[in-house]
Amino acid sequence: MNVLAKPADLEAAAPAGAFVEEVKSVQHYTDRLFRFRMTRPASFRFRSGEFVMIGLMIDGKPLYRAYSIASPAWDEELEFFSIKVPDGPLTSHLQKIQPGDAVLMKKKPTGTLVNDALVPGKRVYMFSTGTGIAPFASLIRDPDTYEKFDQVILTHTCREVAELKYGEDLVQETINDPLIGEFAKDKLVHYTSVTREDFPRQGRITDLIKSGKLFEDLGVPPLNPAVDRGMICGSMDMLRDTKALLEEAGLNEGANNKPAEFVVERAFVG
Ligand code: A2P
Repeated sequence: MNVLAKPADLEAAAPAGAFVEEVKSVQHYTDRLFRFRMTRPASFRFRSGEFVMIGLMIDGKPLYRAYSIASPAWDEELEFFSIKVPDGPLTSHLQKIQPGDAVLMKKKPTGTLVNDALVPGKRVYMFSTGTGIAPFASLIRDPDTYEKFDQVILTHTCREVAELKYGEDLVQETINDPLIGEFAKDKLVHYTSVTREDFPRQGRITDLIKSGKLFEDLGVPPLNPAVDRGMICGSMDMLRDTKALLEEAGLNEGANNKPAEFVVERAFVG
């Protein structure tokens, strides 16, 4: 079944409350991961780190899933990073999109992984696994992040080495970017590990925190609620286990209306 359509075909039948946008580029990383960029509606505003509902028309009905926006708030296009689930109701179709195809996007962004939900600090850790890196792809390209923190540590753990490629490209692009590179090159640290293949650094981020190896490798003191801040995005299990370690270290969970020392993605779908 081909559910893909062109924007002009969908405009007339666009579901209420949704934008119809056009895919500009698609890049496949592995058989489980790809990224795409699409047009951004002129009226669409969001804060770096937020997510939005992305969808396609399937059997005449819109089907949506939550996607973190991977591009920063100043970018004129929107970028997303997606898994491919062979029988996934949405991603089995979405993985086939090509430039020129239409994608639906609901009009209201939301989310907890925003700079506003953290109290000021010295160092921010962005803990991610798999596609959980997406909101951080937005935040590490936002000058506000570097204004707020002296050091920005992006950790990314994946099952396989090939899955790290998106993050590696992203960090290189960020450091080489004429606008954001100035801030990023002195403050951004990319810390990767792999759990199911050989790689110079192995293990889950939770184990690297517990053993103290993370801090040893980075040359920084252990987590300290006076100066360290955290943001967490990954599977439900990873969120729960990482959150417990931050709480053990004395950090409190914050929210948009009550900023504190760390925040957890509340709508991430793995
Ligand atoms: P592992 O290979 O040991 O399961 P997934 O694709 O399942 O979301 O996993 C992405 C990465 O997150 C993998 O490296 C995986 O390690 C790791 N991971 C899975 N569960 C947890 C958890 N509870 N805490 C920390 N890391 C986890």
